[in-house]
Amino acid sequence: MVAIYFSGTGNSEYISRRFSDLMGAECHSIEEDVDFERLLSGAETLAVCYPIYGSLVPRIMREFVEKYKNIIGEKKLIIFCTQMMFSGDGARAFARLIPGCEKNVVYAEHFCMPNNICNFFLFPVRDKERIRKKRAADKKLEKTCQNIRRGISKKRGWHFFSTALGKTQNVAFPGIEEKGRGAFAADQDCTGCGLCVKRCPMQNLELADGRVRQKDNCILCYRCVNLCPRRAATVLIHKKPKRQYKGIC
Ligand SMILES: Cc1cc2nc3c(=O)[nH]c(=O)nc-3n(C[C@H](O)[C@H](O)[C@H](O)COP(=O)(O)O)c2cc1C
Repeated sequence: MVAIYFSGTGNSEYISRRFSDLMGAECHSIEEDVDFERLLSGAETLAVCYPIYGSLVPRIMREFVEKYKNIIGEKKLIIFCTQMMFSGDGARAFARLIPGCEKNVVYAEHFCMPNNICNFFLFPVRDKERIRKKRAADKKLEKTCQNIRRGISKKRGWHFFSTALGKTQNVAFPGIEEKGRGAFAADQDCTGCGLCVKRCPMQNLELADGRVRQKDNCILCYRCVNLCPRRAATVLIHKKPKRQYKGIC
């Protein structure tokens, strides 16, 4: 089994790596420089994990799937989506990317993880939330692995009610996603250290005359917002974070 993931701020990486440890799978981020054609071709089962954005699969993962859809479409699929609260049909959103592949899905699950939108007043970053959600995610992962080993199938997000719930978000999100391409901003505290440039998964940022410039390719993953040493980076919501999200561990 091979596990692949995209993770903006560590939650999906945690689920994917922990699952791989428990199941003895090879695990890679889609940002790695790997021969994915060879890797994916050699796997019987593929486990994918990604964060949900407005009940949609992040654009970076959609582009990856588009590139390898002929291979992915033939594999048995295990789909994990991480979310802060709810996505409705977040896991099914992946299966919809490849017509006809729903029949190959052997397991689909949602994991509630800590909030990474650290500069939105409604969802402050809290240790209590992180600890509680990590404990619950660990428990769910163990149960998930147990089910998969026993051949028990579960498809979270496949119920028509889940689709309806997903629609409450994914109808509006494509517009936000498109507008968000140019959403990066750095405030006066930016020192031009270049950390955000180095770590952006879309290579959307560059340094010019000591300032960070964007190339309108932001996917709103919130990595730069959460890692900037001066809390100077923001996307979409241009409010300085009081506290950044530093990952589930
Ligand atoms: C742009 C954006 C949109 C999001 N939309 C949702 C959502 O619709 N529902 C939800 O429960 N969480 C949502 N979240 C929260 C993330 O899905 C969640 O924190 C996820 O575990 C982050 O994973 P990562 O650390 O692997 O990037 C959103 C986060 C971002 C940055």
